[in-house]
Amino acid sequence: MSACLSADAIVSSLIGHIHSTTNSPAPAPDQPKIMEGSIPKPSEKRVALVTGGNRGMGFEICWQLASSGLAVVLTARDERKGAEAAARLRGLGLPDVVFHQLDIAEPASAARLADFVRNKFGKLDVLVNNAGIMGVTMEVGDEAAVKEIVRSGKDQNEIAEWLKQRTTQNTQQGEECLKINYHGTKNVTEALLPLVRSSADGRIVNVTSAFGLLRVRALMSPALLDWSSFSAVRSSGRS
Ligand SMILES: NC(=O)c1ccc[n+]([C@@H]2O[C@H](COP(=O)([O-])OP(=O)(O)OC[C@H]3O[C@@H](n4cnc5c(N)ncnc54)[C@H](OP(=O)(O)O)[C@@H]3O)[C@@H](O)[C@H]2O)c1
Repeated sequence: MSACLSADAIVSSLIGHIHSTTNSPAPAPDQPKIMEGSIPKPSEKRVALVTGGNRGMGFEICWQLASSGLAVVLTARDERKGAEAAARLRGLGLPDVVFHQLDIAEPASAARLADFVRNKFGKLDVLVNNAGIMGVTMEVGDEAAVKEIVRSGKDQNEIAEWLKQRTTQNTQQGEECLKINYHGTKNVTEALLPLVRSSADGRIVNVTSAFGLLRVRALMSPALLDWSSFSAVRSSGRS
C-alpha cells in the first residue's frame, strides 16, 4: 500500500474487515477447555503491530487501530519514546496498546519482538510496516515557499522537477535507506510472518512512497503536494 494514502485511508481499508470478524460466537459450553499452562490460546481480539509507532503516521495508525477495537503493539526503536507514545494512547482511553522495542534493521530485535507477540497473543492479524527514512536531503524552504510553488500554476511535471532540483542523496544516505527501508522491512516481515499466518485472515500493509516509483511524475497529484506532506517530511528531521 502506498503512502499516497493517509493514515486514515490505511486504517479504514482494514476496518470493514475488522468489524466483520470481531463478533465470533461464544464457544459451546461443552467445548473442551484448554488447560492452563498449555499452548497459549490465540487472542480473541484482533491484534495489530505497527513499526515506527512513536510518531508521525505510525502513531496515528496505532491510535486509529486501537480506537477501532484492535489490540495494538506499538513498536519503536527508542525505548523511552515508544513507551511514552503507548502510555499516551492508554491515557486517551485505549488500554489495549502495549509497547515493545523494535529496531527494524536489527534481526535480534525482530526475533525478540516475535517471541513477545507469540507468547502474549499467539498470532498477528495486521502488520503495518510503517517505519522508514527518506534517505535524502530536501531543501524545500519554508511553508510559504512551498505554498507559493503549489499555487504558482506550475503543472505536476514542473513541480516534480522543482522538487528534484532540491533533493540530494549521498552514498551514505543511500546505503542507510536500503538498510532500513528494504532489508529492515524484509527482516521484520520474515520474523513475524509465521504469526501472521497463524491468523485466520492475516494481512500486511507496507507504507511506501510515490518517490519510490519510476513513474512518479505521472502520479504526482495536488493532494500529494499540500503542505502537510512537506511538514511531515520536514518534522522527521530529514530535510
Ligand atoms: N509523511 C510523508 O509525506 C511521507 C511520504 C512518503 C513516504 N513516507 C513514509 O511513510 C512512513 C511514515 O512517514 P512519517 O512521515 O510518519 O515518518 P516519520 O515521522 O519520519 O516517522 C518515521 C518513523 O520510523 C521510525 N524508524 C526509522 N528508522 C527505524 C528503524 N531502523 N527501526 C524502527 N523504527 C524506525 C522512526 O523512529 P525514530 O522516531 O526513532 O526516528 C519514526 O517512528 C515512513 O516510512 C516514510 O518514509 C512518508
